[in-house]
Amino acid sequence: MKFVFPLLFFLVEVCSGANGETGYKTWLQYRLIEDQSLTSGYLKYCKSIFVPGNSEIITSSLLELNAGLKQMTGTEPVVVTNADQAGIVIGTIDKVSSSIRHIPDYQIKSLRQDGYIITNTGRQIVITSKSDTGILYGTFHLLRIMQMKIPLSEISIVENPKIRLRLLNHWDNPGKVPSGVPSIERGYGGETIFNWDELPVLNKRYTDYARMLASTGINGTVVNNVNTAKNGLEGWKLLTPEYLPKLKALASLFRKYGIRLYISVNFFSPVLISGLKDADPLNPEVQKWWNNKAEKIYGEIPDFGGFLVKADSEGEPGPIKYGRTQAEGANLIARALEPFGGILIWRAFVYGNKELSPDRACQAYEVFKPLDGAFSENVIVQIKNGPIDFQIREPVSSLFGAMPETNQMLELQITQEYTGHDKHICCLIPEWKEILDFDTYAKGTNSSVSKIISGELFGYKYSGIAGVSNIGDNPNWTGHLFAQANLYGFGRMAWNPDLTTETIIREWISQTFGNNEKVLSVISEILLSSRKTYENYTSPLGVGLMCNGGNTGHEGHFSPSPASRINYHKADHNGVGYDRTKATGSGYTGQYHTPVSSMYESPELCPEELLLFFHHVPYQYRLKSGKTVIQHIYDTHNEGVEEVIGYYEKWKTLKELIDNERYEHVLERLNGQIGYAKEWRDSINSYFLKISSIIDKPLH
Ligand code: GCU
Repeated sequence: MKFVFPLLFFLVEVCSGANGETGYKTWLQYRLIEDQSLTSGYLKYCKSIFVPGNSEIITSSLLELNAGLKQMTGTEPVVVTNADQAGIVIGTIDKVSSSIRHIPDYQIKSLRQDGYIITNTGRQIVITSKSDTGILYGTFHLLRIMQMKIPLSEISIVENPKIRLRLLNHWDNPGKVPSGVPSIERGYGGETIFNWDELPVLNKRYTDYARMLASTGINGTVVNNVNTAKNGLEGWKLLTPEYLPKLKALASLFRKYGIRLYISVNFFSPVLISGLKDADPLNPEVQKWWNNKAEKIYGEIPDFGGFLVKADSEGEPGPIKYGRTQAEGANLIARALEPFGGILIWRAFVYGNKELSPDRACQAYEVFKPLDGAFSENVIVQIKNGPIDFQIREPVSSLFGAMPETNQMLELQITQEYTGHDKHICCLIPEWKEILDFDTYAKGTNSSVSKIISGELFGYKYSGIAGVSNIGDNPNWTGHLFAQANLYGFGRMAWNPDLTTETIIREWISQTFGNNEKVLSVISEILLSSRKTYENYTSPLGVGLMCNGGNTGHEGHFSPSPASRINYHKADHNGVGYDRTKATGSGYTGQYHTPVSSMYESPELCPEELLLFFHHVPYQYRLKSGKTVIQHIYDTHNEGVEEVIGYYEKWKTLKELIDNERYEHVLERLNGQIGYAKEWRDSINSYFLKISSIIDKPLH
């Protein structure tokens, strides 16, 4: 029986997202499949859909499925009201019992919240889950498979998210921004997509944003910058009554895609907003203020996620002013959220306090480790992946595994603040994979970061992963088209940290550019090697910051400026690197569990790519390759440039295989990258020549 589909209007909306091949459609291209035999295989199932249940999320799933199937097969599916007549059945377990008879019990039992099963019963493709959100994720998975041209005949998939909270952190500045300050801090994909003047009126881009996030499994978003008041920023105003209807509108839209809304708040809000005399965590008036605030928000947005706080850091205020600890500060706000199931995410990016070690790497641990167990149950401490600040190579922060009694969350940076902005190809997925796989030895072997942030290792009540967003209003969302791979990869890795880098990259290419083998192999090769390449021509052997300071916009942290970074790399006439050993240095190595600490303590055992992060060595120190450190620096910087030139040449071989607009865009960026890489090479190599007086003597 044919069902008159009442949602045609929305369907048209989803279908018409295409702005040519600007990249707007990201990996959700749903290109028409030209292989007739594949299409007819798909059409065995894809002509009709049975979808019991009518929640908002189920509607989103149906819209997506309809649009995707129609565009890929050229045939619009009909929605039927009887499961037996359907080729595809999507519904929660309780609603599709007749279609899931054949699914083994153990598979159904293995489903966790938002996990899903996709199976071919022989007659039907069934997507089922315990939750509506699981159905949405399963729908996106099915569409992904089809975009990758995988036949559906044998399909049998059981998926569960490994990490519970998978959040995007926007560093977008609401309200008026002072002149010269960008609307996104460290954002290179254009201006902010959040139009606070227009909200609560929504626009289509919000829907496409939500689709894009949900398609990778992201389930929460913090829509404003952690810096909420610095230099006249107005992010703190999100807590004022004027903004509540705007937040509500966004939350209502995101809810349709299983995404919860969070905001960053200022610790001084009671003072800033209501003129209280202080924001002291032990002042009952302050507690009352936060309680009232939470009540008002949850009155309008019952599934509001919670708050993110940057306190006592880079000018953002915090509990130190009142002589209180980070835990006392966090618990104050967490108590207000607790009755509503809200979460308080408190950042560990606290440094610079005079009582702490002069080595910045040591500081977060010194502040937070003694507070283990002092945080409320609904607080999560969010920790940057490394102890400094999103460098191309850093060790994993020593705080991971150091706080068994404190919920932890990993913060990664998707936006390429230190890794080439929107000008360099630098695929960060291999780096994130290393971080997630890193064994902290917190409970002996097999204590990886991913097990910590999945909650498995210490039985955390809440835990998760956050990525600093690279989304803006650029037609392709991220500025550099290839930066989309980082966004995609973040979501996929957050869903399942066990996925391989190669798998994720292949998925992205295949959905974004199609399945031509040459396209797949050339782009994979570029993406897979790009992090190492960037590292080669910028910052050697884990030495860290070599870039300029400057503002938070397009100039800052982009160009080489080694002479201004001596505090980090410690280069002098005789050698280079930061001695962080217990024996003779800052003692940072001692913050790790054994055997990690002894590995880093010894220059022989220390992985060479981190040698200069942990050790100050003479320029003539010999690496395993037989080369001296100084020669390694010269060589890798030269090699890095050659590698980028190689990317340019390889990309040119794809001219006939990629649409012109995206081809030219990447070509132009690669051309620019060659110039920037040369600038880095020349700057770093001449700096080291000057400071060491040792000349470059390549072997050949
Ligand atoms: C870096 C970055 C800042 C940002 C800060 C943070 O220092 O340069 O722009 O505010 O990290 O993570 O809070």
